Amino acid sequence: MSDDRTPTDQTQYGPDRQEAIYRSGMLRNELPEYPVSFGDLEQRALEELDDEAAAYVAGGAGSESTMEANDRAFDEWRIVPRMLRDISDWDLSLELFDTELPAPVLLAPIGVQGILHDEAELAVARAASEFDIPLVCSSVASHTFEAIADELGDSPGWFQLYWSSDRNVAASFIERAEDAGYEAVVVTLDTPKMGWRERDIELGYLPFLEGEGVTNYFEDPAFCDRIDGEPEHNLVEALESFTDCFGNPSLTWDDLEFIREKTDLPIILKGILHPDDAREAVARGVDGIVVSNHGGRQIDGAIPALEALPEVVEAVDGTVPILFDSGIRRGSDAFRALALGADAVLLGRPYAYGLAIGGEDGVRSVLGNFLADLDLTVGLAGCRTLEEIDRSTIRRRERGRR
Ligand code: GLV
Repeated sequence: MSDDRTPTDQTQYGPDRQEAIYRSGMLRNELPEYPVSFGDLEQRALEELDDEAAAYVAGGAGSESTMEANDRAFDEWRIVPRMLRDISDWDLSLELFDTELPAPVLLAPIGVQGILHDEAELAVARAASEFDIPLVCSSVASHTFEAIADELGDSPGWFQLYWSSDRNVAASFIERAEDAGYEAVVVTLDTPKMGWRERDIELGYLPFLEGEGVTNYFEDPAFCDRIDGEPEHNLVEALESFTDCFGNPSLTWDDLEFIREKTDLPIILKGILHPDDAREAVARGVDGIVVSNHGGRQIDGAIPALEALPEVVEAVDGTVPILFDSGIRRGSDAFRALALGADAVLLGRPYAYGLAIGGEDGVRSVLGNFLADLDLTVGLAGCRTLEEIDRSTIRRRERGRR
């Protein structure tokens, strides 16, 4: 069954989608076409992908203990629903950086989507735009920022910057993103180099070195200045140049000034886990923070992002919006991150798996299900607005209790 209705036709994500699915099942014997649970989604996506792509998307740093800890961290918190609060109607909308969003959800920047599906970010952008959910476009996207922005149309897009060690390339990326209509710059701080990813190391696989995820570099005038001739005709030099300039390990807080000079768009720092870094970010005038450990892909044994969230929230004390990613799989995960003080969450691997299985349709299904699940969780917890999802709605699990 494919539920082609988008939220614009719907009044409430959860009840409407649920009803459509049950009707199809009971009246027409049509079952959902794409897996619903995260486990089934992951399993099917990994079966459909080749070994290298599967390892790259599903893997994390080292023993992957950070990924596991991310998952477990949600289970530390239990939702305490409230009753008799008139939940005949509730509302997930919010305003973020002057944009009205239908729900506190964005699609996380995931690079090299071309290894998952030919249409890659173009398909994701089309699906996201149907829901008006912002897509954060990765620097290492498989299509150009401009082409992805075209697919987004009027739907919001943010741009994620891997801060190149070549300042001309970094500046050019920001300028191109702004010209293409992206509404915010998300600067990823935790990846000046890739983490030690055992699955990829065992396969000797890095997608960039087979020309995946470098499109925006090869099409960039500042990057092309580094190469003799066209990158496509001088592939070895171009790929080496990409490897040389991809990240900038020498950056310090003072360098933020450079980005501020280049753009008036909101600047959001992604990868903050320590409250002192959060305080520094605010002191340096950034507009937002993403609490994230990069889905466990950078450091093995890192603090789960959810565990870091409350301290960052306290440090920031409401001065700038705080977003959250790393381990969001279901509506109840998003609810718990919101209850711990996040203003919105970023969904990552689930939509990547939807893309791998069914392209645009697969992403639409994952996003529709995720929003429906979140919507029902919010209503059933007795919350009518996002403001009502506060610390009183969750409780830390008591030790020894399951
Ligand atoms: C790049 O963003 C990666 O995590 O592979």
